[in-house]
Amino acid sequence: MSRKPQRRSGEEIGGHVLVELLGSGGNAEVWRARGPSGGVAMKLVRARRGEPYARFQREVEQLRLLGDMPGILPYLDSHLPDEPTAKDPAWLTMPIAQPLRDALGPDPTAEVVVSAIAAITKTLASIHAIGVSHRDVKPDNLYMSDERWLIGDFGLVDAPNVEPLTEGAVNLGPRHYLAPEMILSPHTADGAAADVYSLGKTLWVLLTNQAFPLPGEHRLDVELFRLTTYSTHKGLASLERLLETMTRTDPRGRPSAERIADELTQWSAPRRTVATGADLSDFVRRAQEAVRYQLTEDERQANRKHRVEALMSKFAKEAEVVSRQCRASGLPVTAFYGGKYGDFDVDASDYLSENLGVLATTQVMGEDPPESRSAGLIIQVHEKAPMLKLWIGLAAIPRLDPEVILIAGSSIAYWGGRHRGLWSEQRRTVLGGPGERASVADLLDEMISRLPSDAEAWANALEEDSGRR
Ligand SMILES: Nc1ncnc2c1ncn2[C@@H]1O[C@H](COP(=O)(O)OP(=O)(O)O)[C@@H](O)[C@H]1O
Ligand SMILES: [Mg+2]
Repeated sequence: MSRKPQRRSGEEIGGHVLVELLGSGGNAEVWRARGPSGGVAMKLVRARRGEPYARFQREVEQLRLLGDMPGILPYLDSHLPDEPTAKDPAWLTMPIAQPLRDALGPDPTAEVVVSAIAAITKTLASIHAIGVSHRDVKPDNLYMSDERWLIGDFGLVDAPNVEPLTEGAVNLGPRHYLAPEMILSPHTADGAAADVYSLGKTLWVLLTNQAFPLPGEHRLDVELFRLTTYSTHKGLASLERLLETMTRTDPRGRPSAERIADELTQWSAPRRTVATGADLSDFVRRAQEAVRYQLTEDERQANRKHRVEALMSKFAKEAEVVSRQCRASGLPVTAFYGGKYGDFDVDASDYLSENLGVLATTQVMGEDPPESRSAGLIIQVHEKAPMLKLWIGLAAIPRLDPEVILIAGSSIAYWGGRHRGLWSEQRRTVLGGPGERASVADLLDEMISRLPSDAEAWANALEEDSGRR
């Protein structure tokens, strides 16, 4: 922000002489000043009343409490008049420190960046532990002094038992670094989780040497977010995964600052060499499996839906072939493919629970995910009697365990307002695994072989029923 400075060098304020402007943020000018005990950084807030001034008062109050903690840019002195004027402004002094980007230099190595952010994260973890959150984490608010990495600018701090200051739905925090919940509900959002999000953006910006972060979740499958798109450093893969969790849209899915600090510290620790010849293939397989489970729920569902659809639409094509053969031999059959249990004109759960013992277990019913698909054949002798039909087909029903799928074959006869399950058989297999196609093939065979006898059983029931009328 390049506004004209409000103060001039040489001006005297509260026993200090302003020397040069060190920087300015959204709310304040910070000057190098000479005071009774040497050089200091003097923060002069632009606002003199209302909420922005109240915020500065809070910043000073909180910094007084926190300023002695290691890793926090220390508090030296302050002046907070009830009604500040141009001649008697409010101010805060602190030691002069070097802004983080300057301290890192133009092209820092990943090791240097990670160890700086590890230190910052430890400090964040220690303030989070006492219920305080910073809510303005970004490179511009981080410093180095005496070989220590420090957090500064507590202008948006949130602490226990302090009232929110911003009225209404004003979004609060660092643009580009801001967690989504701080846009939607800054007063109720968990400041610690928002810090973790902003910290993730900070880490990414520094590792990729970019001016600003990209908005949103750092998904591993999006090239633009991946660190390896910007850097050839060999050890970035484990950081990608950490960044993905830190920037989750749902704050509950983000790790704590404490855990991140551990991971980053471990990452920067010197690595031992792996014994050559060790067989790591089992580890790789297990790790891959674990990563798959860690995909976000949305991705998991989309993935599952895609696989279920691929499986069942293939089956539907085979059912179509069968239906053509049946029609050729005079049987009025149509093939279908649809969601859940197909296009039923009765409530699926209702008749399944009544008629298909096995299928009726709650494990199958009640909580079927929307990705369930069914396909098969419907035999209907008269178009004006849609409730007189035989349904025979397969349903693919993903289970709670995202990798497991239940493939259920069933045949249901409808007549005279009633219905009865003639066949019910199920296979539980790993979605996308080798057993999946085999199960479908087995059930298809079974479906074809029992089609004539089921059709006959259904015709008998129809006949009996009409005989009774
Ligand atoms: N102690 C300090 N030492 C050196 N520069 C500082 C110091 N404090 C602030 N600055 C500079 O002033 C800028 C604004 O300070 P900051 O406290 O972040 O104000 P704001 O609340 O307006 O964002 C910083 O980005 C930095 O460049
Ligand atoms: Mg600032």
